[in-house]
Amino acid sequence: MKVLGLSFGRKGKNCDILVKEALFGAQAKGAEISFINMMNLKIGHCTGCGACDKRRENGGPSRCVIKDDFPFVEDAILEADAIVIAAPVYVLAPIGQYKNLVDRLGPSHDRSVMEKVNKERMAAGKTGDELLDPRLFKDRYIGLISVGGARTENWTSMGLFNMRLFGFSMQMRIIDEYNAYGMGDVVNPVLDDALCARMNRMGENLAGAVGTPYDEVAWYGDKPGICPHCHGSMLEVKSGTTVECPLCGMAGELTIENGEINVSFSEYQQEHSRMRFGGVEDHRIELASIMEHVFEVLDKEGERLPGLLKKYDEIKELDRSKFVENMKQ
Ligand SMILES: Cc1cc2nc3c(=O)[nH]c(=O)nc-3n(C[C@H](O)[C@H](O)[C@H](O)COP(=O)(O)O)c2cc1C
Repeated sequence: MKVLGLSFGRKGKNCDILVKEALFGAQAKGAEISFINMMNLKIGHCTGCGACDKRRENGGPSRCVIKDDFPFVEDAILEADAIVIAAPVYVLAPIGQYKNLVDRLGPSHDRSVMEKVNKERMAAGKTGDELLDPRLFKDRYIGLISVGGARTENWTSMGLFNMRLFGFSMQMRIIDEYNAYGMGDVVNPVLDDALCARMNRMGENLAGAVGTPYDEVAWYGDKPGICPHCHGSMLEVKSGTTVECPLCGMAGELTIENGEINVSFSEYQQEHSRMRFGGVEDHRIELASIMEHVFEVLDKEGERLPGLLKKYDEIKELDRSKFVENMKQ
């Protein structure tokens, strides 16, 4: 059983130490551990070039073509059975590098698309390397640690919330999370025995979860949350008493009983949550129907497009090569 630690913080600082504490816990439960500090790796943003889709459609892998450190990290993720991730809160949300990784693992690693493509290739008699990497279809368990320097939880409001975006495309399952805010006051995590013990437990929880069917795996986070799938408590108010979990996409009905907010999510909504296969399957089908529509419109209107688009070319981009630094201080 392999447990990978990813730290998005500075080398040797809070995120590194907290992730490594979790790795010690996993190791004590028999896991083979590995660790990557992401801070100085080059993980560029997805440029939307669509090359991953084209490679897959042409019978190849569904992989990004940008030549940076992503393939190294991707391979470590695919090797792992469980992953513990710590990311610093920068301006209320996880550091930008984190979202770059989430996006690069996004549509190109969509479990529903991968499964459909692989089934089609098998039906066409393809075998071995002609099929997608089998590691794409492995269930994986995630522990998240959001790390903030400010004294109050209030200054980490979108930390864990955004960290939960990791892995839903590949249908990984988050089983534990921790909001390590107030790290300025802690000074160094090694001085806080309770915090280190909690991180050890996260590692033990991850190692213990490997191999457990998703339906049976427990939730180890400190709060149950309002959403039963991502365990978050952020809600988008739609209309009337209908609210939606922005991460899972599930709509529910809000009630207040004895001064407590409660949201009930129907079975249908839960089956179609983005954190479950039904949700990514819906999205795959939706995208396929969008493409049918696009081709229909292009058949009818395609010829008019070059003329209509001409005026947009008249506004040119600022010339970067003529830039002269003119900041006064
Ligand atoms: C650009 C920047 C923005 C930050 N914004 C926040 C913030 O909004 N809330 C917070 O609690 N801490 C914030 N911090 C503090 C970091 O989260 C904190 O120093 C954390 O320990 C960094 O992780 P590391 O020690 O593993 O590098 C910010 C730090 C930087 C550099």
